[in-house]
This record gives sequence, structure tokens and C-alpha cells, in this order.
Amino acid sequence: MLEQLDETYDTLRNHDTQAGMRSLRDRLRESRAELSPGEWRRVCEQLREHPVWRLLQECPLTGRAFRKPRGYPGDAVIMDLIYGTYEGPVPQEQDPSVQALYRASYEIDVFSAARYRLEQVRRLMQEVSEDFDGAIGAAVGAGHTRETVGHPALASGRMRRYYAIDQDTESLAVAGAQPGVVAVQASVRDLLTAGCLPHRVHFVSGAGLFDYLAERTAKDLIRAIKASLEPGGRILIPNVTRTFPDTAYLEAVMEWPLVKRDENDMERLFEGIEGMQRLVQHRDPTGSIVFAEAVF
Ligand SMILES: C[S@@+](CC[C@H](N)C(=O)[O-])C[C@H]1O[C@@H](n2cnc3c(N)ncnc32)[C@H](O)[C@@H]1O
Repeated sequence: MLEQLDETYDTLRNHDTQAGMRSLRDRLRESRAELSPGEWRRVCEQLREHPVWRLLQECPLTGRAFRKPRGYPGDAVIMDLIYGTYEGPVPQEQDPSVQALYRASYEIDVFSAARYRLEQVRRLMQEVSEDFDGAIGAAVGAGHTRETVGHPALASGRMRRYYAIDQDTESLAVAGAQPGVVAVQASVRDLLTAGCLPHRVHFVSGAGLFDYLAERTAKDLIRAIKASLEPGGRILIPNVTRTFPDTAYLEAVMEWPLVKRDENDMERLFEGIEGMQRLVQHRDPTGSIVFAEAVF
């Protein structure tokens, strides 16, 4: 592995960033598939002592994902870097090699799947607002609620309000400043204790949250969401798949573990939830995220 890391380092330093990243992603993926969990942990440790890892940390997305300045992985600022909606110092204005690293990270399959996920939330917001005039939406684990930006349903008033529910007050300050968005500070634990959301709604997105929840918590949260759903409402739960191709890269380079689920796992999450008319599932084009859309 050490030799391969040296090679990748040379490729990246020779400014062939795309090729360097691709080969590193491939090698880490192969290595994770072949090794025992203990051996894989050692490879991750080895990587973090190698100059290639320090170089990769110069990418604003990668560096922040690893540092976790809010104390948890996948904060809303990282999501902005993934969506291209980042409002801080613009990576494009930085050093060309940093720009290249950021571009290569931006293209990682699971991040392009996250951009597709944002579009799916927007699609559902639209569909629900066609079913209900004055619909109310909500996101649990809302982050900056970028799905609401310029959304026609909110602009026209067909979606009356969108609740941004999150534990993170800094993220909620950004979310709540957007038209039609009402910030609600609550943790998953608060919602489970209450057994429902703070308001009744027609649509709930769980985008980007369930990838961090164990099965019991995920099931209980769906039950709490359902308790607040108006008849005919919908719940969208996306989740990274068990086979998503960059799990090794995220774990090794960014220390970003995720709870992975496939269609059967998603079905299990909704098992026993009363009143569900149908559960429709599909994957994004890269196969990195599965979307479970429940109609009640
Ligand atoms: C990956 S971000 C997703 C943000 C947004 N929904 C999106 O799709 O871009 C995950 C969000 O979930 C929130 N979160 C994580 N664990 C939580 C918990 N236990 N209770 C409430 N919010 C939580 C984080 O604060 C963060 O804003």
C-alpha cells in the first residue's frame, strides 16, 4: 500500500489531480474489500501518516469533513461545498492546485448523488404542493435547507411553510433566514421523546440524516414523523447504499463513517407503520443513494 500511496502522491504533485484521486479511490476500495476490519483500520492509520493525506486535506471539502469543526461529520457547510452553494471564502479563488483538488472531490460519486438528492427533495416539495394548496413541509436534520432556495411552491404560496428541524443552531440561523423557512431547534432525541414533530405537516424530508442513525432510532423517528403527517402526506428517506463506491475513500481520507442501507433495509424501517399506501424506491444514477418515498 505504501508504494501505491507514494505513486498517488507523485501523480497529484504533478497536477494530474483527477487521475491521482481516481487511482487512490480505486485502491482504497479494493483494499477495504480484501482486508479484515482490523487490517483496514491499519491502512487508514498508515494513510494519515503519509504526505498524500496532508496534501488532500488542502481541499476545503476534504479538510473540513475530516476536522469536523461542529463536532459531527457532514455539517451543513460541507453540504454547501458539495452542492456548490458555499458562501464562505470561495475555493475557486484559491491556489490552482487547491481548486483542482476541490473539483476532483466535488466529482466523487456519492457527492454527485447528494446533489441528485437535493433535486429529489425539491421534486417532492413540488408534488406535495400540487396535492395540497397551502401545504406544509419539513426537513429533519435540515442543515441549511438548500432545497427551499427559489422553490416555486414556496414562492407561490402553494407551500405555505417549511420547518427546518435540526440540533445545530448555527445551521438553523442560515436556514431560518430563507423565505418561507421556520427554524426549529430539536434533536432526534427530542423528537423521539415527544413521539411527534412540533407541527403537523404534509411532507417530511429526512435527507442526509438517516445515514447516521442506527436501525432502532431510524424506525422510531419514522414513527414520530408519521404521527405528525396529514392524511395523504409523504415522507422521503434517502440513505447511502451498502455498495456505494466511495465508502473506503470517505472512511480513510475524511474519517466519515456512514450507516449504509439497501432497499430491504429501507422496507424494514417502514415495517408496521400504519396507514402507508405505498413505498416507492429508486437509486440515483451512481447507485450511491437509495430513495424511499412513502405515501400515506
Ligand atoms: C448531512 S447534513 C444534511 C443537511 C440537509 N438535510 C441536506 O440534505 O443537505 C445532516 C444534518 O443533520 C443534523 N443532525 C445530525 N444528527 C442530528 C440529531 N441527532 N438531531 C438533530 N439533527 C441532527 C446535523 O446537524 C446536520 O445539519
